[in-house]
Amino acid sequence: MFRVGIIGCGGISAVHAQVLTSLDNTKLTACADVIPERARRYGCAAYTDYLQMLDQEKLDAVHLCTPHYLHPVMAAEAARRGIAVFTEKPPAIDAEGWEQVKQAAKRVPVGVCFQNRYHPHIRTCKRYLADGIYGKLCGVRAFVTWNRGKAYYTSSDWKGKWATEGGGALINQAIHTLDLMLGFLGEPEQVSASMGNHHLQGCVEVEDTAEIYLKKGEIPALLYASTAYSQDAPVIIELHLEKAVIRLEGDLMTLIEDGKRQEIVCQTDPTLGRSYWGAGHKACIADFYRCITEGQPFDNRPDACETTMNVLLDVYRQAGVPKET
Ligand SMILES: NC(=O)c1ccc[n+]([C@@H]2O[C@H](COP(=O)([O-])OP(=O)(O)OC[C@H]3O[C@@H](n4cnc5c(N)ncnc54)[C@H](O)[C@@H]3O)[C@@H](O)[C@H]2O)c1
Repeated sequence: MFRVGIIGCGGISAVHAQVLTSLDNTKLTACADVIPERARRYGCAAYTDYLQMLDQEKLDAVHLCTPHYLHPVMAAEAARRGIAVFTEKPPAIDAEGWEQVKQAAKRVPVGVCFQNRYHPHIRTCKRYLADGIYGKLCGVRAFVTWNRGKAYYTSSDWKGKWATEGGGALINQAIHTLDLMLGFLGEPEQVSASMGNHHLQGCVEVEDTAEIYLKKGEIPALLYASTAYSQDAPVIIELHLEKAVIRLEGDLMTLIEDGKRQEIVCQTDPTLGRSYWGAGHKACIADFYRCITEGQPFDNRPDACETTMNVLLDVYRQAGVPKET
């Protein structure tokens, strides 16, 4: 049985706590949050100082559900104590932090919560590409059009700021989609992007909209991400293959081949957090512990997230909205 702790008991921690209490081989043992009542939320040992928790609780693993900028330092502190790390996305907001996470992974198992890699439709598309049954990839396009208004930012002390969130619509909301696109495309030779702040000017420092152009060989990949939409619409990812087009929209996959359309709906667990987060946390976390148990490499280990992090950081270097002074 893995003794597991959670650091950061805000929004997403509830999904981690639910998964950790439902798996046969994990026990949610302790929680840390700087806000005492949050640390007590799940009825286990509670700490306001996460270092104290790491020192006292004999944990096998810790889940990082804290603001973005804290992930690298917390991963390093856990690794120094021989405690495995499962970090929420993004694992880091800059190159130094990303290096710290990779160094931690040399000492202990480290996993990144790109849970949408575990979505059945994503796995099916990966298989189609590997088998080549619809031919090679010709292009990818994706849209992440969600709604994050002023209230979302004013209710948080870390969102909307370069120093603590590291960006906006891309690093927080569309990072999963970028990661999935790169999983199909591979490492692009060309990355170019632009960003803007349309509806949140004066409210946040970071971008509310990003458009990204990637190219690998002759294959283009286009991503449009914005928090300026009227609702959290299902993410759309389309793969243009030589013999078919596959369109993923939330849990619906449409296969278009020779003018014929086939629709396949995948039922995911609606109790695992908000639908637009994707319901992959359970599969992803279960696989993390299975891999540790069996000594297998985890699909979301840091070196399997390298392309995503390189492109993400490259986009911000090129196109980050000028910081307010
Ligand atoms: N995988 C997904 O789909 C998904 C979805 C939502 C959020 N997330 C990620 O989860 C993380 C947390 O997001 P959230 O929306 O839950 O944020 P949140 O602000 O609701 O929660 C963060 C918690 O961390 C606590 N905290 C801050 N500093 C701390 C410290 N030094 N020690 C201990 N606790 C500390 C805060 O008090 C707060 O309770 C982010 O990285 C976010 O990107 C991932």
